[in-house]
This record gives sequence, structure tokens and C-alpha cells, in this order.
Amino acid sequence: MKNILITGANRGIGLKFAEILSANNNIYATARDITSADDLKKFDNTELLELDLLNKDSIKSFCSELKDIPLDMIINNAGIFQDEQMEETILDPELWLDEIMINAIGPVVLSQKLKENIMSGNDKKIIFISSQMGSIDDNYSGGYYFYRTSKSALNSAAKSLSIDWKADGISVLMLHPGWVRTDMGGSNAKLDIDTSVSKMLDVINSLDMSKTGEFLNYEGKKLEW
Ligand SMILES: NC(=O)c1ccc[n+]([C@@H]2O[C@H](COP(=O)([O-])OP(=O)(O)OC[C@H]3O[C@@H](n4cnc5c(N)ncnc54)[C@H](OP(=O)(O)O)[C@@H]3O)[C@@H](O)[C@H]2O)c1
Repeated sequence: MKNILITGANRGIGLKFAEILSANNNIYATARDITSADDLKKFDNTELLELDLLNKDSIKSFCSELKDIPLDMIINNAGIFQDEQMEETILDPELWLDEIMINAIGPVVLSQKLKENIMSGNDKKIIFISSQMGSIDDNYSGGYYFYRTSKSALNSAAKSLSIDWKADGISVLMLHPGWVRTDMGGSNAKLDIDTSVSKMLDVINSLDMSKTGEFLNYEGKKLEW
């Protein structure tokens, strides 16, 4: 059994990753509030841990809780998308910084702090659930300042990580799940969660060092930066 860490695993895409992967792996699943993460509690082989990516102390204490536990893979899935609820607070700098902390800085700092855990695992994979909306080349509609910049920043930092850790044999992937019917994606989204996550798992399973640093969609197609 492999040891896999999944952030934001209490609902949406993260919950589906945990459901599928817990069938034959040890899962370390994070939620901001584990007392209310009832769906996660149903899975076998799943340990629930609290993590709030907005809080530096939470990241620090979470990483020390995992000290000495080898990790085969980290799926940095947790994220927020505030742009659509922002009529009255357009470009509020505090909210913008929060989004960049949760979507970009938090996951990269977390992965950096867990490097020794990854080095003691076998697979040495770090997955960042990014978004096509972080692609500057693909921005034809404008808007979505918080989300777009946060995912662009994530891609930029994760790309550096992939280069810096190549010699260590750690493969890093930025993965766009498609537009998925979750709380974030909404009910009009094109993809159901099962399709998105099972296809992302195919892409993740085929990840090796030759693909480290790529920005792919759930079908394994290369995306523009
Ligand atoms: N759905 C889509 O169409 C779509 C498209 C492109 C990319 N994505 C990306 O896919 C990932 C998962 O999205 P989703 O659709 O499953 O979203 P979701 O249903 O809204 O779930 C988001 C998850 O992130 C967690 N989270 C939010 N703020 C957090 C924080 N401060 N610290 C730790 N965890 C936090 C949430 O926990 P709580 O329950 O505590 O809030 C929840 O578990 C995200 O990175 C998102 O940007 C989604």
C-alpha cells in the first residue's frame, strides 16, 4: 500500500480522490474541520488530519504531525474561488492575498516542508490541482483576477519546484481537472466528478520523470502557459 496525502479531501474532487485511492492505499486526508468531515470517515485506510492553508501555523503543525511518515504522493487539491461572490468587494486586496495564499503559496510551502517525507517514499510524485484559468495564453474572457493570478502563481512556483527537484527524482505535475460539477464548479459544469477524477488518475499513473513540470488537463493534453 502506498501512502498518499490529499488536501481538501472532505468534499468535491478531493473527496473522490480519497474514495477511489483509499481502496488500496493509506490515505492522509485533510479537512479544515475534521469533526464535520462525515463523508471521509466512511472510507477504509483513511486518517483525517486538520489543515488550513490560510494559516501558516496550521501548515507548520500539520507538517510536524506527518514527521517521519514516508509519502509516495501528495495531491495538492484544496483551493478556493471567490471571484463570483465579489460584487461589493471588487479587488479587495485582503481577499486577493488570501486566495493566493490558499491556492498558490500554501500548497507549495506545504510540499517544500514535506520534501523529506516524499524522499522517503517510493513514487516521489507531487500533484498540484491547478486550473486552465491560470493559463495566461488561454485568457480570452478577462476577469477572475483572484483565481487566475492564484493559479498562474501556483503554476510558476510548481514549475520551479519541478526543475529544482529533478535531480532528486521527484516528479511534479500541474493538472487541470476540467470544469467539474462540484460546489466550486457549479451545476452547469460539463464534467461529473467521477469522470474527471478517474481520468486524472490515469494521467497521474502515467507520470514519470520525463513529464515532470508539465501542465496537463484531465485527459493528459498539454495546456498553454
Ligand atoms: N470544479 C472545477 O470546475 C474546477 C476547475 C478547475 C480547477 N479546480 C480546482 O480543483 C480543486 C478542487 O476543487 P473542487 O471543485 O473540488 O472545490 P470544492 O468542492 O469547493 O472543494 C474545495 C476544497 O478545498 C478546501 N479548502 C478551501 N479553503 C481551504 C483552506 N483555507 N485550507 C484548506 N482547505 C481548504 C475545502 O474545504 P472546506 O470544506 O473546509 O471549505 C474543500 O475541501 C481546487 O484546487 C480547484 O481550484 C476545480
